[in-house]
Amino acid sequence: MLRIEQWLAGRDFATDDATAAQMINFVYLVADDTTRTALLVDPAWDIDGLVANVAREGYTLVGALATHYHPDHIGGDLWGTQVEGIAELKERLPDVKIHAHSAEAPWIERVTGMKASDLTLHEDGDTIELGTGRITCVHTPGHSPGSTCWQATEEKSDSGTQATPASLFTGDTLFVGACGRIDLPGSDPDEMFRTLTERLAKLPADTIVQPGHDYGRTPTSTLEQERRTNPYLKVRSLEEWRRGMG
Ligand SMILES: [Fe+2]
Repeated sequence: MLRIEQWLAGRDFATDDATAAQMINFVYLVADDTTRTALLVDPAWDIDGLVANVAREGYTLVGALATHYHPDHIGGDLWGTQVEGIAELKERLPDVKIHAHSAEAPWIERVTGMKASDLTLHEDGDTIELGTGRITCVHTPGHSPGSTCWQATEEKSDSGTQATPASLFTGDTLFVGACGRIDLPGSDPDEMFRTLTERLAKLPADTIVQPGHDYGRTPTSTLEQERRTNPYLKVRSLEEWRRGMG
């Protein structure tokens, strides 16, 4: 069975880092209880603390999922401050695989100093097995070229009972009540429109939205809730979107 934990920067790790607390990033533990293995989504700010948290929960860390290249999510230079992230994780635990979309690789290289050969690169629809769970790469460009929402699903149990809803780790693509910025290097406003209204529209309504920052009224949401209340998911045409985005 998959277990998901949401950890907030400044509260659950990086507890003595004022910048981390200000950035309110979420890091997620995705763990499989049968194999006792786990992945971290967007490990940054405090690699020792995150690795210790995984060990405290009793799991072996086997990989990390990068949603996009920004240093507050994967480490690197953030306005002159060096943030820890996937490079430090890979150095400390060389067997841990760092998963990312292929279109994000050059940006990740630039920000972290890692080589593309240090990364495990994916295309839309690729899957990663984690015990009884499966993580699917959903390529959602817009915020950045290789922005990815990672979809974690549970295999159906042998008893035939309905699997629990999928979790979608949305990074800075979709927040509770908002979407990510589209004015940054590599951003593409038109692609963000297609991501929000076409790519994410294909996913089940009961999908749990697990965003990359604690920006919303609630820490998580569902796609159904966002489709009803998030103004960025209600835009009807590309023309309307372009007008709204200036
Ligand atoms: Fe970002």
